[in-house]
Amino acid sequence: MTESATRQGLLEKIENRSAVIGVIGIGYVGLPLAMEFAKAGFKVIGYDVSARVVELLMRGESHIQDVSAAEVQTMVAAGRFAATTLEARLNECDAISIAVPTPLSKTRDPDMTFVLSAADSIARQARPGMCVVLESTTYPGTTRELLQPRLEAQGLVVGNDIFVAFSPERVDPGNPVFHTKNTPKVVGGITPACVEVACALYASCIDTVVPVSSPEAAELVKLLENTFRAVNIGLVNEIAIICDKLGVDAWEVIDAAATKPFGFMKFTPGPGIGGHCIPLDPHYLAWKMRTLNYKTRFIDLASEINSHMPEWVVQKIANALNDACKPLRGSRILVLGVAYKRDIDDVRESPALDVIRLLENHGAQVQYHDPHVNEFREDGHMRQSVDLSEAILIAADAVVIITDHQQINYQRVVDQAELVVDTRNVTAKLTQGKARVVGLASTPRGSSEPRSLQPA
Ligand SMILES: NC(=O)c1ccc[n+]([C@@H]2O[C@H](COP(=O)([O-])OP(=O)(O)OC[C@H]3O[C@@H](n4cnc5c(N)ncnc54)[C@H](O)[C@@H]3O)[C@@H](O)[C@H]2O)c1
Repeated sequence: MTESATRQGLLEKIENRSAVIGVIGIGYVGLPLAMEFAKAGFKVIGYDVSARVVELLMRGESHIQDVSAAEVQTMVAAGRFAATTLEARLNECDAISIAVPTPLSKTRDPDMTFVLSAADSIARQARPGMCVVLESTTYPGTTRELLQPRLEAQGLVVGNDIFVAFSPERVDPGNPVFHTKNTPKVVGGITPACVEVACALYASCIDTVVPVSSPEAAELVKLLENTFRAVNIGLVNEIAIICDKLGVDAWEVIDAAATKPFGFMKFTPGPGIGGHCIPLDPHYLAWKMRTLNYKTRFIDLASEINSHMPEWVVQKIANALNDACKPLRGSRILVLGVAYKRDIDDVRESPALDVIRLLENHGAQVQYHDPHVNEFREDGHMRQSVDLSEAILIAADAVVIITDHQQINYQRVVDQAELVVDTRNVTAKLTQGKARVVGLASTPRGSSEPRSLQPA
């Protein structure tokens, strides 16, 4: 078949919804995307190597907070969504989006194992007339250097028999306003035909599609977005440290700066960065640039500052306990919130894990409460959330607010606890309670005098 006939055939299948869509990796990114395709009227096959995830979804449950079990049940019952561990089912698909993890290795280099394994699965099942889109965040060049050759090794000509593109996923778990459908989708194809087909695919279920000229541009868009966040969070965390040393309230400074109607964007300091994206993604770019003998200084500096924040928090806790003549060793610390950000259940790369580890290294006895995370495993050790009871709050030598989940009653916390270390400034507007409150940077209400040199 000619390029034009193959392309037209696929475009028609997308237009009349007879195309079968595959999503490889049905996690935080893949499941919401699969649901959008299913809602748009396609039959969707979610392929995942995890039998647990597949069984759960086929039972009509959801393991992703942003997708309801009811939604999954409706789509499974309508025959529009099926999850499977059977790789051969990818052969039924006309378009496949890849949303597998892209972690870092121990040496902070890209770990491409999952992408390579997904690419090999597709290559084994590929046939003419397919569109393959990589969505996993990765370094510029991945689509062309890793995905394209594997498909071409099957005798398929990219842009002629098979259409290949990169389209970064921008999902923000827990965001009440922006989700997969109303977040614009950037698409960069290997050839103009690839970008045309991939844009048509996403336009079927996403409000705005933004074509760019190459997969490398699309890959770099995602890295710019997350590097922008990492660098600005690094800057504001450093401002917090600066404010602490100057004895100025960082939150007051940031809120006042944010009244400027142009030229300033508000970021807030915190105990460090977490999640599968911001702490990791910029390192993909740093790694790629190292191969070109270029050092990404902003990325490295932001990473250094952000990864130091858990130590800053622990030093704050130690100093606050010291003010009460208590050593960190043997103190009972209650960590409030272990998810990496507000109102979600994801603990991956959460700064809470570093704070807990550092506290325990110093001999503290640590418990946690998180309304979204009943339990989690870290370093082979299972931890369970405790109730936020009056007895637990009273018994704690310090309560440390790491994640500012909205459903926690912070007034009760400051009323019942003795010492609260608030890394998110959630207690700022509360009525003064029993607790002495120490902030991440300088002095929210009721805390001790600002100091110089060391975090107070
Ligand atoms: N989570 C986010 O907020 C977010 C946001 C934007 C982009 N991303 C990017 O999206 C990608 C996926 O992240 P995620 O958070 O959805 O991951 P996830 O861990 O939630 O889901 C990935 C799924 O892929 C499956 N998987 C792994 N290897 C596979 C293979 N070879 N074949 C089939 N299935 C396989 C896993 O079992 C898992 O269910 C990553 O590159 C990430 O950086 C994530």
